[in-house]
Amino acid sequence: MVEKDYVQHGSESFRIEVNELIQYLSLLDEEFFDEPCSSIEDEHFDQIYPSKIRELSSRHWTPVSVAVEAAKLLVRGPRTRVLDVGCGPGKFCLVAAALTDARFTGIEQRSDLVAIARRAALKNCLTNVEIIHGNVTDFAFTGYDAFYLYNPFEENMFQRQKIDSSVPLSKALFEKYSGYVADQLGNMPIGTRVVTYGGSASEIPACYDCKQALIGDALKLWIKTREFAPED
Ligand SMILES: C[S@@+](CC[C@H](N)C(=O)[O-])C[C@H]1O[C@@H](n2cnc3c(N)ncnc32)[C@H](O)[C@@H]1O
Repeated sequence: MVEKDYVQHGSESFRIEVNELIQYLSLLDEEFFDEPCSSIEDEHFDQIYPSKIRELSSRHWTPVSVAVEAAKLLVRGPRTRVLDVGCGPGKFCLVAAALTDARFTGIEQRSDLVAIARRAALKNCLTNVEIIHGNVTDFAFTGYDAFYLYNPFEENMFQRQKIDSSVPLSKALFEKYSGYVADQLGNMPIGTRVVTYGGSASEIPACYDCKQALIGDALKLWIKTREFAPED
């Protein structure tokens, strides 16, 4: 069962902090964004999280500079609705929502990460962010224009680097989750955009073409260009 909850206005203080960060980012030139890694702005941004979540950041959460580029690829205008599949503590959604007027939804199976993401959105007064608690396999993609995937299911294959032990992990679940996302993406209209960061892109059906690759091919924009794969 998927629980839906909309964030509401909260205190102004955190918004100012994020706005400062975004202003700082806009002063940096394009070259800087070609080399995402643990960086000053990630150290700064991750201060919003409890230390346990901060420690997982370099391995499991999108770097700020990557979130900026992904938002540019996904958002076509203020009406764009973006779904982050497996949003963790919401780093991509928070950065992208602070930068644009588009609407960002994150779905996340771990309740503690959901609570952290919602709290951060509230504190930042980001009313264009919605965090849903649930398993992606209980969630229909209808109504979204664009999708962000940062290795949502890889933990099932590389369990030595798992986030925690709170959810079951297995190769069978990797296949089940990837297959579900591939089916949902396959049913979306032509023109649907997907950005993947890292990973094998095994969730991307053959009716999508890779239209752009950035950051040493790690960040890819996929667009649905036909109803069926040529071999179908
Ligand atoms: C690598 S993290 C990426 C987090 C976030 N998208 C980001 O870029 O910062 C993948 C997240 O997907 C979540 N996840 C994995 N399988 C899921 C599923 N079946 N349903 C919902 N969330 C899932 C994990 O709990 C984890 O928080």
